[in-house]
Amino acid sequence: MLLPLLLPLLSLRLARAAFEADFTDPRLANGSWVTAQAEPLNVVVSAQSSRELREEDVLQDWLNSLGYADECLGLHAGGPQQANLGDGNGYVNQTGLYRWAYGLPEHAGSCWESLVGGSHVRYWFQGDRDERGAIFLAASDEHNISMYHDIVDNGYDLGRDNVAGNATVPSGTISPSSGTIYLTTVEMASGFFEAGLTVNGVAINHEIGIDGLVAVLTITISEETSNELSLISFFILAAFVLSTLLGGWASYYALRPSSEYSTLRIDARKPDIHDRRHQQLLLALEQARRAIRASTLHDEAELGLRDQYETELR
Ligand SMILES: *[C@@H]1O[C@H](CO)[C@@H](O)[C@H](O)[C@H]1NC(C)=O
Ligand SMILES: *[C@@H]1O[C@H](CO)[C@@H](O)[C@H](O)[C@H]1NC(C)=O
Ligand SMILES: *[C@@H]1O[C@H](CO)[C@@H](O)[C@H](O)[C@H]1NC(C)=O
Ligand SMILES: *[C@@H]1O[C@H](CO)[C@@H](O)[C@H](O)[C@H]1NC(C)=O
Repeated sequence: MLLPLLLPLLSLRLARAAFEADFTDPRLANGSWVTAQAEPLNVVVSAQSSRELREEDVLQDWLNSLGYADECLGLHAGGPQQANLGDGNGYVNQTGLYRWAYGLPEHAGSCWESLVGGSHVRYWFQGDRDERGAIFLAASDEHNISMYHDIVDNGYDLGRDNVAGNATVPSGTISPSSGTIYLTTVEMASGFFEAGLTVNGVAINHEIGIDGLVAVLTITISEETSNELSLISFFILAAFVLSTLLGGWASYYALRPSSEYSTLRIDARKPDIHDRRHQQLLLALEQARRAIRASTLHDEAELGLRDQYETELR
């Protein structure tokens, strides 16, 4: 009789014990595994990661190394979300939001993401930033703007898996701006919330089901950086310049004038998404997207870099 009641408690106890050194379960101090907007906190950067990750610019550099970039020129879909990590600070706004950049560094790619949809992460630091601690991420995949930025089916698990998948390439991820190499391992944690349509009894936003797993990432900053590889650096720089130019052109083409984008955002909230201007913009975006896809230099440089490191690590 009692067993079904005790099992969840037991597995929670086991889960907590297993990850004690990685993060503090927010619920221990009245926090929650969902944001105030009911999105699951499905990725945790372990407190056992390199200490530098607790600095926001280093965390951002790491996100950049996975292919995520800062929000699009201050334009964002929706307001900030709040989370309570049980650290005594109550519900606080997300510290930041990074978006999948489609292989384009800095803003250009994530402008693209705001318009066509894709993977994005919101992040919060648990506890006092001067001390060792975890970082909680809410990762999800969004539809494009014509779908009002809704989360796609299975979008929370997909978003989590995209972050974990991109982070854990065996040779490490390399920041395009600093050349820092991040080596990341992942452990999937169960027992903190259930599979289904709720997180600890809170109905999930958009009624999207989850598998109940949290990706716990441990990130180690490699002692090596790419600065001795001058040829590679040159390729990176060339790729960076080229893709910034292309991205700049794409966002100019797509967003010009910026008031048009504002209008689009307002229009997109209206039920009539077949608005003519909206359609024209989507068409322009499709053309810009093809132009970006046609450029392979960035990918080649990145592959070259990975090969080089794989050889070195052997
Ligand atoms: C715990 O959180 C709930 C809901 O956010 C709040 O009403 C309550 O006062 C909190 N309790 C403590 C002890 O902080
Ligand atoms: C959270 O963000 C909103 C919207 O940007 C802002 O109005 C509010 O003041 C912020 N709250 C805190 C505590 O910073
Ligand atoms: C946006 O998503 C819808 C539905 O998935 C799709 O039909 C449309 O082509 C997409 N638009 C762009 C610009 O990607
Ligand atoms: C990296 O993220 C992108 C965008 O979300 C996704 O398409 C891709 O499959 C991910 N790669 C891995 C190895 O998970």
